[in-house]
Amino acid sequence: MPKQYVNRESDRSGPPPIPMVDLRPLLRAARGRIHARLSEMHAAGQYILGPQVAGFEAEFATATGAHSAIGVSTGTAALELALRTALANRTKGEVVVPALTSLFTAQAVLAAGGRLSIADVDEESLLLTATGAEVAWGPSTSAVVAVHLYGRPCQLGALARLARDRSAALIQDACQAHGARHLGRPLTDFSPYVCYSFYPTKNLGCLGDGGAVATSSKAVESHVRLLRDGGRRGGQVAAVTAGNARLDEMHACYLRGLLPSLEPNNRHRARVAEQYHEALRDCPGVRLPAWSDESVHHLFVVRVKRRTKLREHLLAAGIQTGIHYPVPLHRHPAFREARVAAPPVVAERACREILSLPIGVHIRPRDAERVAAEIRRFYT
Ligand SMILES: Cc1ncc(COP(=O)(O)O)c(C=O)c1O
Repeated sequence: MPKQYVNRESDRSGPPPIPMVDLRPLLRAARGRIHARLSEMHAAGQYILGPQVAGFEAEFATATGAHSAIGVSTGTAALELALRTALANRTKGEVVVPALTSLFTAQAVLAAGGRLSIADVDEESLLLTATGAEVAWGPSTSAVVAVHLYGRPCQLGALARLARDRSAALIQDACQAHGARHLGRPLTDFSPYVCYSFYPTKNLGCLGDGGAVATSSKAVESHVRLLRDGGRRGGQVAAVTAGNARLDEMHACYLRGLLPSLEPNNRHRARVAEQYHEALRDCPGVRLPAWSDESVHHLFVVRVKRRTKLREHLLAAGIQTGIHYPVPLHRHPAFREARVAAPPVVAERACREILSLPIGVHIRPRDAERVAAEIRRFYT
């Protein structure tokens, strides 16, 4: 059990613990829909690339405003397959990635045969910007990965222009941004490679691993479909080198059951985020994230002073927190060969200060109130 884990059912005395994640309310609400899909799956007796995956792909494409979606095995696979598709007709060169992201973003670049160029993030949003990407751009840069970190879309207009002007591909890591739009438009309007993870804790997750590439390009759709299934088009002949990155029918059943809850749950997350904003405004020692109406609030990340002590204080009060992420990409031994054009000082400092507070459908107004009250108590 991880050190920071707390469970609502633990036998500690005092008020109930507040965990970072508790999927039970979500699953309870979707139980009927999930069971109906699982029954359909068993009746059909097809467990790989059957009607549930096809049905989910159509429903998820509609939900995200994309022309199509291709279900794959993980978010990492979605990124890798999108990158391999984008790099198929380009020289496999450098790929610009932000220093502050999941290590899986960078692993996907390397798995796709790209080399890493690490960019700093914006001081206010902690996202990659076109300005940041330009600093990290090199003569062999062939793609850039915009990570919609914590649920907030990057400034996609400027990033898409930069990529287009330099004949590079714009890949979107939307693994934390299910349901997000930018300027009221689907993310696929800005580039044909939008990658999602359905890791259980995401705004839309399954009970295991899963992912998808959303796109509005028929050519991209066709190539990703090829890459996820051994390089074949249905038969037993491989057209290109590829592995197995299929989404299972069973996970598709859960995803179809949970998808109708995505929007209401994102609205719930927004209410929790608003409550934290209100309750922690002017709290000494705490810097709030800049508000964005476009965010789907996958994580609520504040920047704090004396982080370790605050975490201990919160944990003693039964409140679990997280750090996303404690180490910037260029500090991982696995990525030591990455090019770092300018020291990512914003990401470095952020990694020392950021703290993720509990957010999700399991967080009730009284939970958010208690979290904020304990933080205030610590600093005052
Ligand atoms: C920003 C980001 N990118 C990539 C991934 C990788 O997704 P997965 O764990 O489904 O492979 C994640 C999920 O952890 C993520 O949050």
